[in-house]
Amino acid sequence: MSGIRIGRRVRAWAPGRVNLIGDHTDYTGGLVLPMAIDLGTRVEGTSGGELVWLTSAVDDLPAEVPIDIADPMSVQPSWARYVAGVVSQVRPAAGFDGSVTTTLPVGAGLSSSAALEVALALALGFEGTPLELAKVCQSAEHVASGVPCGIMDQLASAAGVEGHALLIDCHELTVEPVPLPPDLAVVVLNPGESRKLAGSAYADRRHACNRIELVTGPLREASLADLAKLDDPVLMRRGRHVITENERVRELAEALARGDGGAAGEAMWASHVSLRDDYEVSTPTLDALVDALRDTPGVFGARLTGAGFGGCVVALTEPGAIPWASPVTASAGARIER
Ligand code: GLA
Repeated sequence: MSGIRIGRRVRAWAPGRVNLIGDHTDYTGGLVLPMAIDLGTRVEGTSGGELVWLTSAVDDLPAEVPIDIADPMSVQPSWARYVAGVVSQVRPAAGFDGSVTTTLPVGAGLSSSAALEVALALALGFEGTPLELAKVCQSAEHVASGVPCGIMDQLASAAGVEGHALLIDCHELTVEPVPLPPDLAVVVLNPGESRKLAGSAYADRRHACNRIELVTGPLREASLADLAKLDDPVLMRRGRHVITENERVRELAEALARGDGGAAGEAMWASHVSLRDDYEVSTPTLDALVDALRDTPGVFGARLTGAGFGGCVVALTEPGAIPWASPVTASAGARIER
């Protein structure tokens, strides 16, 4: 639904996210524990006309998308495909003339594309619950990029709660805010690796899960014993990651509720090993960074965060334990700014 008002100046903001734990679990209806962060994307401008026309602070070329766009993937430059994806799903009654600015590193695994989608959908007048907003933006991502992403990124951006991580059940689509203990810092480390193969490798992992589920039934309900029915050792490892990762999400959420940094950290180290060895989505750079953090005093745990194949590491630490990296704080979700 779009409640756009012609000629009205609009400013919308949406946060990126960091996922504390629960990667490659959302698209099989599993558990995730992300938080919206204090870095994000702002879309501002004036509604009217028949084009969505946006300049970007990170690309010289603007996005110029007709409001009746049929094929978002054909649009140039490539960042404008996300604009086209949102326009094709929100179907605004009028265009928009404005700009996009962001404090997020683009393509670093902190959901810069989800933040753009969510902020733009709001700027185009989308009206609905955070879950409805997330679903529209997840569809936008699918048609813009062809990557069959789950709902975590868009839902974290839409439904963020200040000072809280979000325990999301991606089957029930429920969001339970989990308070972050004040004496624990969340630090994001970006080694600056590009993520070129991420799209096709991501789709490959998702297809592997589909094949597993044909044998085991839904992975969110499967046990490790069910994996014995598989005769492919690679699929067995992929399934083992998903099943054990869902358990680790619960462990981390419970550890945070108790303020137990040690137990929270153990779940994070184990998650990284599982993503590295069983799901095979890490890189030597991310592994080296996580290994270095293991030897750093005051670091409870660390892991790659997001889809992998590059991107960032997230660490849970005593405040100030990694003096060269600033902590991120858990932010509220996307909003229209008055
Ligand atoms: C990307 C996707 C999410 C999720 C993560 C991995 O960020 O957009 O839906 O699958 O990868 O956990």
